[in-house]
Amino acid sequence: TIPYDVVRAWPKVSLHCHLLGSVHAATVADLARKHGETLPYGRSAADLYEIEAYEDLGAFLATYDVVGSLVRDVEDVHRITYESLTTYGSEHGVLYREIFVSPHPVGVPYAVLLDGMRAAMADARADAGIDSRIVVALHRERSASEAEALVDAVVEHRIDEVVGVGLDYAEVNGPPGLFADAFVHAGRAGLERTAHSESGPPRHIEVILDDLGCSRIDHGYHVVTDPRIVQRCLDEGVTFTCTPVSSDIGRYSGSGDGRHERIAAMHAAGLRITIDSDDPPMFGTDPTRDHAVISTALGLTTTDLARISLDAVAATWLDETDRT
Ligand code: HPA
Ligand code: ZN
Repeated sequence: TIPYDVVRAWPKVSLHCHLLGSVHAATVADLARKHGETLPYGRSAADLYEIEAYEDLGAFLATYDVVGSLVRDVEDVHRITYESLTTYGSEHGVLYREIFVSPHPVGVPYAVLLDGMRAAMADARADAGIDSRIVVALHRERSASEAEALVDAVVEHRIDEVVGVGLDYAEVNGPPGLFADAFVHAGRAGLERTAHSESGPPRHIEVILDDLGCSRIDHGYHVVTDPRIVQRCLDEGVTFTCTPVSSDIGRYSGSGDGRHERIAAMHAAGLRITIDSDDPPMFGTDPTRDHAVISTALGLTTTDLARISLDAVAATWLDETDRT
């Protein structure tokens, strides 16, 4: 096994970590105090992120929404973005991150969200050397017209930091095909595209590639149950952003016992995978832990890990000239 301190120092690229899923519990408690609110279910900072509850995605997302709702001004946005980029980024060797942000639950307008994130990203770059961009996640449990309205806002407030759009929340309540128009619209505006597909059938991968025009897939573990789609993804060089610790809890990446059979099968088939933490404090993880867990489960060597890291660099949405 690769020593933990080597994994920690390993230069990383982060393509699948949510802003609202990477807020310290203590920060959530501070925001609640600041805005005169209490935490839900009578919780405190100490037990806000009781991960036992997250075997149910709905329970997880309810907490995620509460975090979003407590972000109410540009200073709050700056604080959570800066803390996320440093604590779950630069402190774990992350050199570059594409930050997923879900604007729908946040308590500030999209333009304010962008202002706070952009300022914090510049500060984290100056202070901690981490470079970052933004991927705006459309909410699949809301309507297709709400998704299109958000794409309109992204286009209207276009800044260089926003490189693409994604699709998050519970797949069971929003299959990808519903959002084809919004994704096509985003593509026409020059935005890159990705979509979560953690629990759905392999057929959703085809919809995501063909109808949504995505170049990456978030999770996508079920690909391994369809050899034809595996072959297609090999041919097209599709990258799957894997999140071992968070996905083991819901038994998506394998049988839920830390063996990650599906990620192992993806890696063995030669598919491009990247390693990330999804919602680190909420799932009790961080980028080092996710890399260590998968290295141990798959018996990776540093050569294997280097391959995965290079695939992550290739899958970023940076211009060629920025990929130093
Ligand atoms: N699943 C679906 N949507 C999400 C998640 C997740 O784990 N985290 C943030 N949005
Ligand atoms: Zn995710």
